[in-house]
Amino acid sequence: MDTLARTKVKDLLKMPAGADVLAKGWVRTKRGNKQIKFIALNDGSTINNIQVVADMSVFDEELMKRITTGASLKVTGKLVESVGSGQAVEIQASGIEVYGECDPMRYPLQKKDTSLEYLRSVAHMRLRTNTFGAVLRIRHAMAFAIHKFFNDKGFVYLNTPLITESDAEGAGDMFQVTTMNLENVPKHNGKVDFSKDFFGKKTSLTVSGQLEGELGATAVGEIYTFGPTFRAENSNTPRHLAEFWMIEPEMAFYELEDNMVLAEEFVKYLVQYALDNCMDDLQFLNDKYDDGLIERLRSVLGIAFQRVTYTEAVDILEAAVKNGRQFEYSVHWGTDFQSEHERYLVEEHFRKPVILIDFPKDIKAFYMKQNEDGRTVRGMDVLFPKIGEIIGGSEREASLEKLEQRIEELGMSRKNLEWYIDTRRFGTVPHSGFGLGFERLLLFVTGMANIRDVIPFPRTPKNAEF
Ligand code: 4AD
Ligand code: MG
Repeated sequence: MDTLARTKVKDLLKMPAGADVLAKGWVRTKRGNKQIKFIALNDGSTINNIQVVADMSVFDEELMKRITTGASLKVTGKLVESVGSGQAVEIQASGIEVYGECDPMRYPLQKKDTSLEYLRSVAHMRLRTNTFGAVLRIRHAMAFAIHKFFNDKGFVYLNTPLITESDAEGAGDMFQVTTMNLENVPKHNGKVDFSKDFFGKKTSLTVSGQLEGELGATAVGEIYTFGPTFRAENSNTPRHLAEFWMIEPEMAFYELEDNMVLAEEFVKYLVQYALDNCMDDLQFLNDKYDDGLIERLRSVLGIAFQRVTYTEAVDILEAAVKNGRQFEYSVHWGTDFQSEHERYLVEEHFRKPVILIDFPKDIKAFYMKQNEDGRTVRGMDVLFPKIGEIIGGSEREASLEKLEQRIEELGMSRKNLEWYIDTRRFGTVPHSGFGLGFERLLLFVTGMANIRDVIPFPRTPKNAEF
């Protein structure tokens, strides 16, 4: 046991000079001359380093040789006012112990910048960079703020299953879960016999906790889920992951309007929380990758999001095309918007976040409330600058009859859905909810360009390393 308690770098940097301190961390850089060395030490608690000053009349050359970028140290000394600029205090070292050396010939992170793409192949080193330190701290702060937001509103955190037999989004692309021997799959009448599988039925990893969430909301009123979600869609884009995290609030007695108000309040709260609590990290990312980041974050706070129906949006896009704006994908009533269309609406036309509502029923999931017009549903997508869709949600179809009719129309298996349909059979209520893609939010908040760089261990097609 150390006799002196360790202080984290984040706290050291805020302390007044004078105290004897103990710091532990990894060497970022070492410089100096024969008389004096300056070691920048970081322990991951902050983007900032504490400077350790080593007087070479106290320490020997042999020890200093072992102190290279990436090595781990334990440093005791006095916290003194810093003479150099850039920091208020530094440690005048009296003792330095090397926990682990870091061979400079083999360490893949030297001072020169390494590309984000390269870093993805060196998982352990990647997380130790300034960039990922910042991303991970912001990711944590956002997760905490999400729980705080809902807790303060009296929502109940509901844990929905990751293994499920239902396909909530009806989109198909699910990962199957099985313990069957794929070399020798049990068959019955030529078909796979899932009764022999672990759960006695065909199961998959969930694409959404919403359906189970609706059971929670129609019991305790307001719930939210926050967990991993899996989609086997083969989308190799900077905005898609095969494993991502989603936050899905679901609220009894909310109509679409209430849902929109909550979604807007929610994302604004999170952006404000980041600005209030993560400024050092945001400033670093702003300076290094995206000099419009902080301004963009502030810009969404002060304004009301633009609400527009799908039909109005199609008119806007068609007018743009008429005026010579080119899109890779064509757009007309009934098509699902591509990210280029969403970004046109947000970045060029309205120049603010957009809440798109009332979609053609054929491009949306079975559970959305049907409008009187018979061809649109009360869906709601929130579109953000640089990202496109960040939230997808809707008011839910509360009528048993209409829900059953839609399930029928789509040819979905009722057998797996009776438990869900029960919510409309017994005391049905108007209710609504939405899903926020956690990594999409983080793309916006960190300004990173690729969704792989806002999750510690990304899973994408042909990539499940570590
Ligand atoms: O729009 P989606 O598919 O909606 C649902 O899953 C609903 N069940 C939500 C609800 O109403 N409770 O997905 C919601 C959000 C998207 O807006 C997007 O931000 C994110 O999840 N998302 C993805 N993020 C990363 N990679 C993917 N492959 C994603 N697919 C969706
Ligand atoms: Mg969606």
